[in-house]
This record gives sequence, structure tokens and C-alpha cells, in this order.
Amino acid sequence: MREKCCCGTEKCEEFKELDSVLDKYAKVPGSLITILQKAQDLYGYISIDAMNYISDATGIKTAKIYGVATFYAQFRLQPIGKYLVMLCQGTACHVNGSEMIAESVSEYLGIGDGETTEDGLFTINNVACLGCCSLAPVMMIKSANGDETYGNLTKDSVRKILSEIKERA
Ligand code: FES
Repeated sequence: MREKCCCGTEKCEEFKELDSVLDKYAKVPGSLITILQKAQDLYGYISIDAMNYISDATGIKTAKIYGVATFYAQFRLQPIGKYLVMLCQGTACHVNGSEMIAESVSEYLGIGDGETTEDGLFTINNVACLGCCSLAPVMMIKSANGDETYGNLTKDSVRKILSEIKERA
């Protein structure tokens, strides 16, 4: 845990999980992207507070960290839902109707790519090949319980999968 935090308190609990990452990488030149990736793995996204915390440890200005985080598409600056719905838009999935699947999911959840439902349950993310093209079209749902992959999707099957998740959430 750092002795003094960017938020002004002596000991900040909010980002304490990040301390081991910062202890390892803060002073290693060229490590900012690694630090941001680890922060995103830990918190699901990179908040301005997290950027301030990283700035405090590395000496890199928050504005510069913000610039890097917004430049790369891999970084999210908004919290994601409990379930991250990753819809494959790779070639095999595209040929097998991934657009139609994406439309069905968007319609059912009432959100578009990169957005999160109001109840904080789902975030949609269109992604490149998920590595199981023989099951195209495919989606992966990430949550605290692990990753689940669903293949041979249809308009109806995606809705059924999502409604089952909703019911047990
Ligand atoms: S293209 Fe979708 S899993 Fe490979």
C-alpha cells in the first residue's frame, strides 16, 4: 500500500491491489501500457482516479496517461457490466450471420456496441476472432464466474442465453 495517495488520504484502500503492479513496473521505462492493462484486468476499466493513482506512483502526468488510455482501443474508460458479451465479428462468424446476431443482442438488451445496460448487468463488445471459428457465429460471455463460449448461435438462441443469465443474476 502506498503511504500517501493522490486522493489526499494517507492510505488509500481503493487501489491497493494495484500496488504490487506499481512496485514492479512504476520505475521501469515503457511500462505504462502494461500497468494500464493490469489496472483494467483488476477493475474492469480505467477510471480517472486510477490514472491519478498511477501518475502518483510513476511520475507520468495524468494527462499523458489519459492520452495513452484513449489512444488504444483495448482500454475502457467506463465501468463494464457484470457480464461482458463479446460478439465475434471475425470472418467466419461474419459469413455465418454475426451481424444478425449482434442486431438481435442489441435489440434485446437495448444497447449498442461498447454500451452497458442501465442495470449494470451487460456490456456489449464486438471483437475479432475468438478462436473457435468452427462454431461460428460465436459469442463469449465474461463474468466473475469465468468465461463461457456459445456457438452456432441463432437470433433466438442468443436471446434465450441472455434471458437465462438475467434470471439467475
Ligand atoms: S471468426 Fe468468430 S470465432 Fe473465429
